[in-house]
Amino acid sequence: MIDPVDSDDRSAVPNPMIPDHSSIDSLSDCVGEEVTLRGWLYNKRSSKGLHFLVLRDGTGLCQCVVNESAVDDTSWSAADDATRESSLELKGVVGIDDRQIGGFELQVSSAVLIHKAEEYPITPKEHGVDFLMNHRHLWLRSQRQWAILRIRNRVTMSIHEFFQGRGFLQMDAPILTGTAVEGTSTLFEMEYFGRTAYLTQSGQLHGEAMAMAFGKIYTFGPTFRAEKSKTRRHLTEFWMIEPEMAFYDLDGAMQLAEDMLSRIVSDALRDCQAELEVLERDQEPLKRSIGGYPRITYSEAVDILKSEKTAQMVANKIVAIEQEQKDIAAESEEGKAAYGQAKKWQKRKTDAREIEIQRRTNEIEEELRNLPKWVESARQFEWGSDFGGSDETLITWNFDRPIIVHRFPHGFKAFYMKRDPEDDRLALGMDVLAPEGYGEIVGGGERATDLSFLQDQVRAHGLPEEAFKWYFDLRRYGSVQHSGFGLGLERTVTWICGIHHLRETIPFARTLDRLYP
Ligand code: 4AD
Ligand code: MG
Repeated sequence: MIDPVDSDDRSAVPNPMIPDHSSIDSLSDCVGEEVTLRGWLYNKRSSKGLHFLVLRDGTGLCQCVVNESAVDDTSWSAADDATRESSLELKGVVGIDDRQIGGFELQVSSAVLIHKAEEYPITPKEHGVDFLMNHRHLWLRSQRQWAILRIRNRVTMSIHEFFQGRGFLQMDAPILTGTAVEGTSTLFEMEYFGRTAYLTQSGQLHGEAMAMAFGKIYTFGPTFRAEKSKTRRHLTEFWMIEPEMAFYDLDGAMQLAEDMLSRIVSDALRDCQAELEVLERDQEPLKRSIGGYPRITYSEAVDILKSEKTAQMVANKIVAIEQEQKDIAAESEEGKAAYGQAKKWQKRKTDAREIEIQRRTNEIEEELRNLPKWVESARQFEWGSDFGGSDETLITWNFDRPIIVHRFPHGFKAFYMKRDPEDDRLALGMDVLAPEGYGEIVGGGERATDLSFLQDQVRAHGLPEEAFKWYFDLRRYGSVQHSGFGLGLERTVTWICGIHHLRETIPFARTLDRLYP
């Protein structure tokens, strides 16, 4: 047997650390050198004797110039034949060109067509959301999705770095469970060898057990809610990060949530500039969202919701977006009028802008339909009810950064919440609401520690006591003050990206009406 470490023959084995081709995001190290790029054709422009191929390799885009007089016949016909999303291998010398996307350009010396793509269904023209979601497996290749999902990756890394840096252990909670955590109305049920099992709604209860064993833990896993609601904030399968900490009170949990979010935002601002620019994200609200999150009680939030100031703000907003609607409609008309005489590159620009205008127009129409209803229901809001998505939106419009709302009426909160010792009507829960109307991204609080209180609560919530026997044990053997929360990954990424709907923040969204692809 060959010893893998001491073998003299190792040089014969290709070193997997040195790839035989370059990635577009590393071209700055290769200026003036010949490199090989492998990827897919994102875009192509041609003129006599020249093809300008924009290659996409997942790390970025690079314009690659194929000059008929500088390459052999095979290379030229490869460039000639390449259709959108064909896979290609291009060799050439890297030059700096600030005018080009990515800032570099490849002068191609040889080209290989690896696979010629059939006619690609996603064109630069506008497609409906249903069409795009049905082609999600291909839509992932677009620039916008590139930006969103790379930000998701950065957020994921920030979360791990943040918690690991603070001595938390990552621990996984089971996905198949025997109990409800967040109420029985959104449970996915399944047959489990003759018994009933559920897909987990939250790893919290198992997280509490792990916190009693390890002090500070966090789970990072998929969670499931059979949400019948078709909103822009609901998935049936989403990813939740749930820290749980022994000897933490509500204030400790709120501070931790603020620190974690501040870290996520500042990392994204530092490391995702290219992505945020693709999304045309206004970065000012993000810059303000590093620290200093106001903390208000539920009762204060209700007062804000019902205030004259909020109603006036909505009235102003309606005026502003009606104006915007007129402006972009006019811009769209101008684009159409000039289209006939426009040059090819101008048409491309108009097409791209038209997609943006369409997207925004749809958003505005939706908002104009919604806003009057929202104000009306805010006016009728009664202390003791839960905030709906629109209430959260209206509340957050009063602030310029995330806020933390705490101390909710216990009536609509989960069974495990500790009561406020100062006011028995309240539970020591907290939600972080993201600004700009995004609403709840974190929910959590301090946990009840008393055994008989919890047993009563389980009964009062109509939950099966038998299934919670193990959970009650945590209050039998060294019960201590503890707190935790859950961060919704997709809602957080939606806010950071400044996009409308959370379905684009997960590679393959699962919603009420979507299980394909
Ligand atoms: O507020 P929730 O329901 O809290 C819990 O599940 C607690 N057990 C967490 C804890 O204390 N460990 O959910 C937490 C977060 C929400 O703030 C939201 O960001 C996200 O999970 N979330 C959803 N995201 C997408 N689609 C859904 N249907 C979601 N439901 C909740
Ligand atoms: Mg919640």
